[in-house]
Amino acid sequence: MEKPIYLDYNATTPIEPEVATEMQPYLKTHFGNPSSSYQIGRSNKDAVEKARSQVSRLINCEPEEIYFTSCATESNNLAIQGIARTNKDRGKHIITSSVEHPAITEVCKYLSLLGWDITYLPVDNHGTVNPKDVESAIRKDTVLITIMHANNEVGTIQPIHEIGAIAKENKIVFHTDAAQSVGKLDVDVEKLGVDLLTIAGHKLYAPKGIGALYIGKGTQIENLMYGGGQEKGLRPGTENVIHIVGVGKACEVALRDFEQNQRQMQFSRDRLLDGLVSQLGNQVHVNSNLENCLPNTLSVAFESISAHTLASFVSRDILISTGSACHSGETTISPVLQAMNLDYRTAAATVRISTGKHTTEEEIDFVIEALVNAVKKLSL
Ligand SMILES: Cc1ncc(COP(=O)(O)O)c(C=O)c1O
Repeated sequence: MEKPIYLDYNATTPIEPEVATEMQPYLKTHFGNPSSSYQIGRSNKDAVEKARSQVSRLINCEPEEIYFTSCATESNNLAIQGIARTNKDRGKHIITSSVEHPAITEVCKYLSLLGWDITYLPVDNHGTVNPKDVESAIRKDTVLITIMHANNEVGTIQPIHEIGAIAKENKIVFHTDAAQSVGKLDVDVEKLGVDLLTIAGHKLYAPKGIGALYIGKGTQIENLMYGGGQEKGLRPGTENVIHIVGVGKACEVALRDFEQNQRQMQFSRDRLLDGLVSQLGNQVHVNSNLENCLPNTLSVAFESISAHTLASFVSRDILISTGSACHSGETTISPVLQAMNLDYRTAAATVRISTGKHTTEEEIDFVIEALVNAVKKLSL
């Protein structure tokens, strides 16, 4: 068993060996520009189109509805700013939630400086948006609803299908940031009823530096960058062929192994929680609502123990993340935990543990023992 044991798969995932193998030729010999008309260009264009189909199959859309970007942050920027600009004469109101990733909230903040009005919907104690609140927030000048599919910190899955129906009824464009859910949940754009959906390569065993945006046919959207016209002008710039090939393969593998991966991630997460609860009892406070949660995610607080102290105490053996930031001795609670109304002590004690598709039973049993020992020691 290799140490430290990595249990921070919501932060990023390693590149899947099958994905790395697929990318290899593009590191060495296949260097053509997809826009070139001779053979090495055309074959790289074919590779990009193959990847587009692989991504589209995973989320059940047409290949032409997939646009490659550099990351989820870029996809979110293109979606939000692109839709805002397209509709600026119709209205300047955007609805989002108070538990979004900064790759959404910071874009909204920027737009609010330029005159857009943003409604941040509240959430319940588990971080769930109420679709009725979405409906009540809609105004004549609402041009976009953007609500994440699943939360990166606590794993909460939002009622995207219900919100999609409301958006459709009111003819408002609906975007979801699915950076955390693609590969972990059944992400089907038809079933979800979304117009735009963000994908992050490095959360599903592709490399960092590649993302995609699903833009449903008929959705009017302005480009943010100007250049050579690649990606139908919406994301100009010579294609990152090697990473596009990687994300395509990662999506193919994610679709092929979906059920097995989901079962494995959930098995590890549940075994871990059972082990912790059976030995630490009610010193364990679970923030995640496991009935409605990403299968791999556990947001948990150990009573009276600072998350930073715990995470650094175990860091030689286990890698996990905390629900708060610590700067010069001051602990700032994450906006997500704040929006969930978690009390300061619990929030400051919150760690996020996220399992991966290759996490083993042996690793989990080791982690249970290490965490229980650490909590007992730090409680003295
Ligand atoms: C929900 C969500 N959206 C967006 C992002 C941003 O992803 P990236 O940094 O790859 O652009 C993340 C990364 O953690 C995320 O979890």
